[in-house]
Amino acid sequence: MASFSSLLLLLLHVLMAFKTGDGGEMTSMEDDELSGLFEVMGSLLDDPTWAQVHPQPCTDTPWPGIQCELMAQEDGDSQQDYNPTIFHVTKIHIGTDILTPPCKPTATLSPKGLLKLPYLKTLSLFNCFTVSPFSLTSSLFENNSLSTLEHLALVSNPSLHGSIPPSLGHIQSLRILSLSQNKLTGDIPQQICGLVNLQQLDLSYNQITGSVPQEIGGLKSLTIFDLSYNMIGGQLPSSVGQLQSLQKIDLGFNDLTGRVPEELGNLTRLVLFDLSHNSLSGPLPETLFGLKQLEYLVIQDNPINSGMPLFIGSLGRLKVLSFSRCGLMGPMVPSLSSLKNLTALSLDNNSLNGTVPSDLGSLPYLEQLNLSQNQLSGQMLVTEEFISRIGTRFDIRGNNGLCIKNSTSTEVKSPSCISARSRTGGNKSSRVDAEDRPDECGTMNSTLYQSNRCPRNHHRFGFGFDQVILLMVFLLSLVF
Ligand SMILES: *[C@@H]1O[C@H](CO)[C@@H](O)[C@H](O)[C@H]1NC(C)=O
Ligand SMILES: *[C@@H]1O[C@H](CO)[C@@H](O)[C@H](O)[C@H]1NC(C)=O
Ligand SMILES: *[C@@H]1O[C@H](CO)[C@@H](O)[C@H](O)[C@H]1NC(C)=O
Ligand SMILES: *[C@@H]1O[C@H](CO)[C@@H](O)[C@H](O)[C@H]1NC(C)=O
Ligand SMILES: *[C@@H]1O[C@H](CO)[C@@H](O)[C@H](O)[C@H]1NC(C)=O
Ligand SMILES: *[C@@H]1O[C@H](CO)[C@@H](O)[C@H](O)[C@H]1NC(C)=O
Ligand SMILES: *[C@@H]1O[C@H](CO)[C@@H](O)[C@H](O)[C@H]1NC(C)=O
Ligand SMILES: *[C@@H]1O[C@H](CO)[C@@H](O)[C@H](O)[C@H]1NC(C)=O
Ligand SMILES: *[C@@H]1O[C@H](CO)[C@@H](O)[C@H](O)[C@H]1NC(C)=O
Repeated sequence: MASFSSLLLLLLHVLMAFKTGDGGEMTSMEDDELSGLFEVMGSLLDDPTWAQVHPQPCTDTPWPGIQCELMAQEDGDSQQDYNPTIFHVTKIHIGTDILTPPCKPTATLSPKGLLKLPYLKTLSLFNCFTVSPFSLTSSLFENNSLSTLEHLALVSNPSLHGSIPPSLGHIQSLRILSLSQNKLTGDIPQQICGLVNLQQLDLSYNQITGSVPQEIGGLKSLTIFDLSYNMIGGQLPSSVGQLQSLQKIDLGFNDLTGRVPEELGNLTRLVLFDLSHNSLSGPLPETLFGLKQLEYLVIQDNPINSGMPLFIGSLGRLKVLSFSRCGLMGPMVPSLSSLKNLTALSLDNNSLNGTVPSDLGSLPYLEQLNLSQNQLSGQMLVTEEFISRIGTRFDIRGNNGLCIKNSTSTEVKSPSCISARSRTGGNKSSRVDAEDRPDECGTMNSTLYQSNRCPRNHHRFGFGFDQVILLMVFLLSLVF
């Protein structure tokens, strides 16, 4: 896109050279549009001479934050037929890549100026409103102002406060709306749910309250929906299930309550689903087995308080699964170990009991496994390759006597089953003895390892030197 514009610029320069050679005068922009641009830049930038330094911002005196496009002139004015095309300002961008001159402390958006830029497609201002309070007024998006906008990004503006004006819903051409990392308050206006061309809606990191509007289902083209880090409460409307193009939905760190609607199982293209840090209750609907493309399921820190959902086992593409601190109870879903693409599994701080599904410790890409603070028991089989891959990102502390078998590493944050071999000082034949009684676990007396369910066999096997070393390394690893 950028190179296309520069090509156009180059083309014009060539054209200009020709015209100048002919001695002809060429209008590169309409006066009204140019004065609109000067007004907008004047109200934003900390350089009163900007207009003088850039008298022809589309041609001779460009500025990197402004893009223009050559377009055929609309009214076929016969006097101007020697000049069939003209430049229009299509993009204004200020961001970390374009810093000079910076935005002024009293930066604002000039509604009058913007009204004169009828071809603007992109307006993106990063870290521009930083000192004087600035808010988006309704009039900014009224009377056809900004009506051709496709991409509006006002991001990381610490002094951009106030609410999102409902008139934003007038900009039917909008494809990307990002108002992330500002100080916006108030509700999400229902009017923006009529933006049928909107593909990305990012309102993350604000102080938005209220609830997700029922009308949200109207955003038929939405692929990215990010409301994370706000104070949005209430129930998630079932109409979210109508956003059939959705690939990413992040509602993490809000105050959502109630149950997740079963209609969300219709979001068959969803790749990322983050509901973490809300007050959602369970159980999660089993219709979510329909999320066949899902790679990231992040539910942690919600009072789900139910059994572990069975649908998880059918989400074959899952890479990251987190149900930490969700009050999950009962057994772990056995089919977890069929999720071959899992790289991170966090089930810590729940009330899961029973044994760990066999083969979980041989998942080929798993790099993080936290099962700590549950009531799991028994032996977990792990391969040596698994242990060397996962290292310290493996945690099964705080369970009911859960231990790992065939560990050659002492780096992992997990109690290992003291093998019969080491207990008896390397007698290989007695390994059979341990395997005959698979629930016989290590009995290291660590306050971090509650081995309630394991037989206490201290009288049979004293702690050998290597167990003491193991315990010390284990405790040291906890300190750091
Ligand atoms: C929009 O139009 C109305 C009436 O036509 C007028 O009162 C108002 O001032 C206009 N707003 C802007 C920002 O020009
Ligand atoms: C979405 O799912 C619900 C129940 O899970 C179902 O009744 C409804 O028909 C589905 N809607 C569409 C558009 O598929
Ligand atoms: C696992 O990931 C690979 C690579 O991204 C992909 O080709 C494969 O289909 C995935 N497996 C499943 C069961 O989806
Ligand atoms: C487990 O979660 C509870 C509340 O959900 C919290 O109070 C506690 O500190 C957590 N424990 C650990 C070890 O993280
Ligand atoms: C797991 O806990 C449930 C209660 O939450 C109990 O009914 C069940 O017997 C327990 N199962 C095991 C294997 O301890
Ligand atoms: C540990 O597991 C590996 C791979 O599964 C196996 O080759 C090795 O013999 C086992 N070692 C012990 C001491 O059981
Ligand atoms: C596992 O989870 C517990 C409790 O939530 C946490 O304290 C611990 O740091 C985690 N372990 C690892 C290795 O991330
Ligand atoms: C191993 O134990 C068996 C009986 O359990 C015993 O016959 C054998 O001598 C022991 N071997 C060693 C090396 O201690
Ligand atoms: C474990 O150690 C604590 C003190 O560190 C002690 O009170 C307790 O009796 C010990 N338990 C066993 C089973 O050795």
